[in-house]
Amino acid sequence: TVLVVDYGAQYAQLIARRVREARVYSEVVPHTMPAAEILSRKPSAVILSGGPSSVYAEGAPTVERELFEAGVPVLGICYGFQAMAHALGGEVARTGDREYGKTEVRATTAPHGLLDGTDKVQTTWMSHSDSVQKAPEGFEVLAVSDAAPVAGFADEDRKLYGVQWHPEVKHSPQGQRIIENFLYSGAGLNPEWTTGNIVEEQVAAIREQVGDARVICGLSGGVDSAVAAALVQRAVGDQLTCVFVDHGLLREGEAEQVERDFVAATGAKLYVADEKERFLQALAGVTDPEEKRKIIGREFIRAFEAAEAEVLKEAAADGARVQFLVQGTLYPDVVESGGGEGAANIKSHHNVGGLPEDMEFKLVEPLRALFKDEVRAVGAELGLPAEIVQRQPFPGPGLSIRIIGEVTEDRLRILRKADAIAREELTKSGLDQEVWQMPVVLLADVRSVGVQGDGRTYGHPIVLRPVSSEDAMTADWSRLPYDLLATISNRITNEVEEVNRVTLDVTSKPPGTIEWE
Ligand code: XMP
Repeated sequence: TVLVVDYGAQYAQLIARRVREARVYSEVVPHTMPAAEILSRKPSAVILSGGPSSVYAEGAPTVERELFEAGVPVLGICYGFQAMAHALGGEVARTGDREYGKTEVRATTAPHGLLDGTDKVQTTWMSHSDSVQKAPEGFEVLAVSDAAPVAGFADEDRKLYGVQWHPEVKHSPQGQRIIENFLYSGAGLNPEWTTGNIVEEQVAAIREQVGDARVICGLSGGVDSAVAAALVQRAVGDQLTCVFVDHGLLREGEAEQVERDFVAATGAKLYVADEKERFLQALAGVTDPEEKRKIIGREFIRAFEAAEAEVLKEAAADGARVQFLVQGTLYPDVVESGGGEGAANIKSHHNVGGLPEDMEFKLVEPLRALFKDEVRAVGAELGLPAEIVQRQPFPGPGLSIRIIGEVTEDRLRILRKADAIAREELTKSGLDQEVWQMPVVLLADVRSVGVQGDGRTYGHPIVLRPVSSEDAMTADWSRLPYDLLATISNRITNEVEEVNRVTLDVTSKPPGTIEWE
C-alpha cells in the first residue's frame, strides 16, 4: 500500500486516485498520524500531499525525521516537499514570490530519475509562496522555476523525492509520468492492482466478516448499491437478500432493471416491495419541494423497515439470524468523515410484526476503499449490465422533484414517456457519457397554446436540463448539438400527447441548481 499523508488541501484524494490509476493500491491517512504508526502499516511508499500552511507558521504540521529514516521511499508534493526539505536540514524561505497556476519548470540536466521521460521545460500547476532555497545534503536539484531555486529534488540513495508543483492535477500534463516514475523506478513497485484483484480481495474479506450469517441489502436502482450487493452476492450467495422498495418515482425501465436485469446478472434473492400507492397517497396535494423530500424520506424508511421485517421473518422461519446490512459507502465519504476504520454499528428501528424494538446490524461496506470510477469497473467485472454501472446520478426523491406541481400517477406517466425519449436520443448520439446528467422536467401546472394537425392544443411544456459537471457542486449547461435537440423535441411533441412544447434550460449552477426543485 502507498500511503498518502493528507496535509489538509483537497489534493490528497486526487493523489490517491492517480496512484491507483497507475495500478498501485493507495490510501489516504491524516497528517496527525504519527510517523511510527504510518511505518507500522508497512507502506511500500509514502506520498506527502500539499497543504495550506507555511512550514514556519505556528502549529504547522511537521513531518518527523523518523519517516525518512526507515528506508521507505517518500515523495513530497508542494507543502510535503517543503516539509521534507525542512525536516532534513534544507532551507525553506518565505520569499514573497508567489507562484500560482500554470508555471514553467526547467530541468537542471537531461530529465532523468523522477523526471525521466518528461520534457526539459514543462508546464506545471503551482500554488505556493514559500519556496525551498537550498536542498538538504545528499539531494540533487532536478528542476527550477522562476520563483523556486529548488523546484524538484531527489536523493536516490535514500529514495527520497520531492516536487514543488502538483503532479496530480490535470494542469500538470506530465504529472502522471512523474508519479509513475516515483512508484515504478523510485519505489520499485509493479502495476498490479487491477479490478480482478479488487473483486477477489473484497470477496475474501466479506466471507471472513460475514461467516454463515444472513445479510440484507437495500437496492436503490443506483450504481453503488447494485455493485455492493453484487459483490456480497459473489461472496456469500444465498445468505444475501436484496430489498427493493419500488416507490413508483423511478424512470421508465429502472424498476425492471433492478427486478429483472440485476437478478439475471447476479442471481441474487430479491424482495420487492411495491409501495407505489403509499407514496402517491402521501404526496397527494403536495407542491412544496422540501415537503416532497421530507415525505419521501419518511415513507421510504417506513417502507424499507416493513420490507426488512418480512425478510427477517422469513429468515427466522429457517432458524437463521440476519446480522449484517450492506451499505454502498464509497472511499471519498470515508476520507471526508475522518478516514476512521469504521467498526460502525448502526441501529435499525423495527416496530413491525413483533420484532425486537432495536435490532443491531453490523455493516458490510465492500466499497469503502473505492472511488466511483473503480466501483463502475468492479460492477462491469461482476457482469452487471452497462445500463446499471454507467448510470448517471439520479436523485433519491426521483421524478417527484421533476414534476413542478402536485405529483399524480398521470403526470408521472407523461414525464416518464418524455424522459425515456430524451434519454434514448442522448444515448444514441453517444453524448450521454459527456453529459453529467439531463433532468427532464414537467411544468405540470403550466399550459401553453399550440397547433397540431388542424387543431389547437393546450398542453404542458417539458424542460430539458442537460448539464456538464465534475461533482454536481457547480455545473454548466451542456451545449448539445441543435440537431439532437431538434430530434428530441420533435419526438416528444409527437409521441407524448399532453406535451406541446419543449424548452432548453440554459442556466449554469450557480445560480440555478441542477434539479428544478
Ligand atoms: P442540485 O439540484 O442541488 O443537485 O444542483 C445536485 C445533485 O444532487 C442530486 N439531487 C439529489 N440527490 N436526493 C438525492 O439523493 C435529493 O433530494 C437530491 N436533490 C438533488 C441531483 O440530481 C444532482 O446530481
